[in-house]
Amino acid sequence: QNALKRAVAVAAIDEIRPLLAKDSVIGVGTGSTADHFIDLLAELRHDFQGAVASSRASAERLKGHGIDVFELNHVGTVPVYVDGADEINPRLEMIKGGGAALTREKIVAACAERFICIADASKRVEVLGGYPLPVEVIPMARSYVARELVTRSITPVYRDGVITDNGNQILDCYDFLIEEPREIEFALNNIVGVVTNGLFAHRPADLLLLGTDQGVERLTK
Ligand code: A5P
Repeated sequence: QNALKRAVAVAAIDEIRPLLAKDSVIGVGTGSTADHFIDLLAELRHDFQGAVASSRASAERLKGHGIDVFELNHVGTVPVYVDGADEINPRLEMIKGGGAALTREKIVAACAERFICIADASKRVEVLGGYPLPVEVIPMARSYVARELVTRSITPVYRDGVITDNGNQILDCYDFLIEEPREIEFALNNIVGVVTNGLFAHRPADLLLLGTDQGVERLTK
């Protein structure tokens, strides 16, 4: 799997190379697949201005390679955002947030002209929900949100010990096949105390680079 993650990171570099200019700031995601991408990006660091990161961990890794990290508020939009996923369906809708970075990932994705998802073949599913859906909550609302989820026949599990970069907590939703991701994304975000959930249905990926044993597949909607 590590080799497949590396292969899709290489493919993402080839994909973004034509988009890079001296003044371009690109969006960079979080996780083990994104880490491969960051490491490869280091070789191109003189070809672009810098990056916006979707987590503190990615910001530190970028800086470690000598890549400048910018505040999203100072950049506005980014031409491209490259990130992994926990699950992705044929419509390129995703579950993200296994690494607890879902809210910042969703914000950077919202500001990206193009979202390139890089994933190994194990992430590809027909219906989302096999992977538990993360929901970031304001700490004082955790029990309330959990009760609300239970009334919707969802089983929330508190991700004990995890504090997000935004100072919040995570509930992971189990036993929950997501046939209508757009509706569910909206409905869960509407519970008071939810910061956001890990469904990327309103902002799916534009391109999936999927690492398989036969090579990297290039999939669009
Ligand atoms: C981080 O919060 C997640 O959304 C990651 O993008 C996702 O978990 C993929 O991570 P890996 O590349 O480590 O599988």
